Amino acid sequence: PTGRVTDQLARPLHDLRISVTDRCNFRCVYCMPKAVFDQNYSYLPHSSLLSFEEITRVARLFVAHGVEKIRLTGGEPLLRKNVERLVGMLSEIPTPSGRPLDLTLTTNGSLLAKKAQSLKDAGLQRVTVSLDALDDAIFKRMNDVDFAVEDVLKGIDVAHQVGLGPIKVNMVVKGGMNDSQILPMARHFKNTPYILRFIEYMDVGASNGWNLDEVIPSAEVQRRIHAELPLVAADANYTGETAARWRYADGGGEIGLISSVSQAFCRDCTRARLSTEGKLYTCLFASHGHDLRALLRGGHSDDDIAGAIALLWRARGDRYSETRTQHTSGLVERAKKVEMSYIGG
Ligand code: GTP
Ligand code: 5AD
Ligand code: SF4
Ligand code: SF4
Repeated sequence: PTGRVTDQLARPLHDLRISVTDRCNFRCVYCMPKAVFDQNYSYLPHSSLLSFEEITRVARLFVAHGVEKIRLTGGEPLLRKNVERLVGMLSEIPTPSGRPLDLTLTTNGSLLAKKAQSLKDAGLQRVTVSLDALDDAIFKRMNDVDFAVEDVLKGIDVAHQVGLGPIKVNMVVKGGMNDSQILPMARHFKNTPYILRFIEYMDVGASNGWNLDEVIPSAEVQRRIHAELPLVAADANYTGETAARWRYADGGGEIGLISSVSQAFCRDCTRARLSTEGKLYTCLFASHGHDLRALLRGGHSDDDIAGAIALLWRARGDRYSETRTQHTSGLVERAKKVEMSYIGG
């Protein structure tokens, strides 16, 4: 039962995002606010987590169904013990095309300076680093654990030096909190090998108290940067790319704008998400996932599990961002969405 599968909206299965831990050493206000993620928060027990062997087995079946890109997420993926071993196992999965898998990871950068070399050696191809401000006070207010900007910048540089590029830097823009940093971030990363991407603050999960008034639309980000550093639109690298690309007119590199709120990109969404405990989510905004761990631990064959994955993908009709206002306006009743730290971004 392997081979390419498409969903109800004719979207192929192309990317798999695997969350390897629901823990994080940051408490970003838009993701794991301290008031919710405090000492009393119950994280998953170790026995609930998929083992590296289980993750690799599932990943192999996804690759047989056409997945060409695997991204490790979290929580903070570098907090998962021996994550390099998992990277090594995933990098050896053969692909139907014979081309190597695009194997990457999204990190807050805090452990990157320490781990970049071992990740590279294990077979990781590139990393994406989250960084929400250049101003130390603002960054500390965003991460809420007093982590310094300088240490993240160091991590980015080390990752670049060991060859984990091209490196993308993700900045979530939260109005009133860090939008003063749009231009400083643009100036800083212009004329560097790094691609800065601005992400609209999204209503993921149920803890961040999301409010549309705090979303700065990408068009506004583009306008502010363009006024000082002229930009020209560039074509997408591939169908379904989350970011719209803009190049600096003077040849100083490019930026990306990820507009999940103001300009949904569900039409070409080819992403499946595997939670830390082995549930398959067909959308970032889903309220429930499908328990692949039960199949893995229930003595089922690879063929059975591959068949189950194909059935789930064929049934998929998710397009939350395109219908968001029906939900946020309260017009449609909806079950509680899963947290970003649990499902990965
Ligand atoms: P590249 O391979 O580098 O292009 O990565 P990517 O853009 O697919 O992945 P990344 O983790 O860097 O995604 C950037 C951000 O875009 C995420 O942190 C999310 O905030 C958002 N994002 C990614 N995928 C989706 C999606 O399917 N739906 C929505 N609504 N947002 C997404
Ligand atoms: N809206 C937009 N992006 C978010 N991220 C986490 N929470 C949100 C949110 N509410 C981003 C992180 C990181 C990626 C994994 O997801 O900053 O770049
Ligand atoms: Fe941690 Fe990333 Fe969430 Fe920040 S956005 S709390 S770094 S998982
Ligand atoms: Fe894909 Fe769901 Fe995001 Fe739309 S909202 S792009 S369907 S993950």
